[in-house]
Amino acid sequence: MNIIVTGGSGKLGRATIRELQAHGHWVLNLDAAPPKAAQGPFTRVDLTDFGEVMGALSGIDQQYSRGTIDAVVHLAAIPGPTQRPDHVTFAENIVSTYNVFESCVRLGIDNVVWASSETLLGYPFDGPPASVPITESVRESRVSYAHSKLLGEVLAEQYGREHPAMKLVCLRFSNVLDPDAGDYDGLEAWQSDPQVRKWNLWTYIDVRDAAQAVRLGVETELTGMEAFIIANEDSVMRRPSRELLEEVFPGVPYTQDVPGTQSFYDISKAKSMLGFKPTHSWREG
Ligand SMILES: NC(=O)c1ccc[n+]([C@@H]2O[C@H](COP(=O)([O-])OP(=O)(O)OC[C@H]3O[C@@H](n4cnc5c(N)ncnc54)[C@H](O)[C@@H]3O)[C@@H](O)[C@H]2O)c1
Repeated sequence: MNIIVTGGSGKLGRATIRELQAHGHWVLNLDAAPPKAAQGPFTRVDLTDFGEVMGALSGIDQQYSRGTIDAVVHLAAIPGPTQRPDHVTFAENIVSTYNVFESCVRLGIDNVVWASSETLLGYPFDGPPASVPITESVRESRVSYAHSKLLGEVLAEQYGREHPAMKLVCLRFSNVLDPDAGDYDGLEAWQSDPQVRKWNLWTYIDVRDAAQAVRLGVETELTGMEAFIIANEDSVMRRPSRELLEEVFPGVPYTQDVPGTQSFYDISKAKSMLGFKPTHSWREG
């Protein structure tokens, strides 16, 4: 397939481009920042500008011509709360997402995969979840970054309803950890205090498995909007998950067992519908 990846210069974008290229896809990276290392074609684009998005998705001299793009993976965003003032995070993320979805509709690009977020699952867990494990049925936002992701999912639903041939896969990534960025370096320090990582119930997703989920999202044959939780099967902790939850939030009901160090995010939907299978646990070094 010929695939455009927005945010391809970022953490998840770089791994996604590697994964897609390794599976034989041609990829063009659209990002406001150039990539640190060459990974194929790149064009600088400000996704908050509708004209730039329409222009870039409809053809770029020597990169590609109109009608040859099969799929768009939209990862570009301000990727979390507190990085910019709240209103900036909200506005940039939701405007870029609208610009990408709407341009895809106008250009007849039916295959769209987009980075939603675990922040719709109860983040920052200052209080207990209603029950565990947590499934896609939970969708609530408490901070501006999460509001932008929530409205992105709502937009995707509407586009899916209005354009029945379209596929809009929304991937609710847990905290993306990249070994090359040293993201696992803090892991030992997290072990002694369950409070440190309670904000996402001790979950994570290795960047390589997140990229696998993106590829599967692009390759899967679905129509309409579908949201998937994308997390590793295990937690970031050595202590059993039940013990951690009981210590931090006693009395949370279980709808099914969460044995050993299993994650409190239920990824069975991604496993059954996308064929997702995380393969990079921190426990294996
Ligand atoms: N990192 C995480 O833990 C995490 C967790 C859940 C969801 N996500 C989502 O995954 C996606 C990728 O996150 P990441 O960690 O790779 O972030 P990142 O910051 O490493 O990469 C984001 C990229 O988007 C680009 N970008 C931002 N605004 C842009 C704009 N207006 N126009 C063009 N390019 C723009 C940036 O230049 C950057 O290269 C984001 O949508 C983020 O919200 C990330």
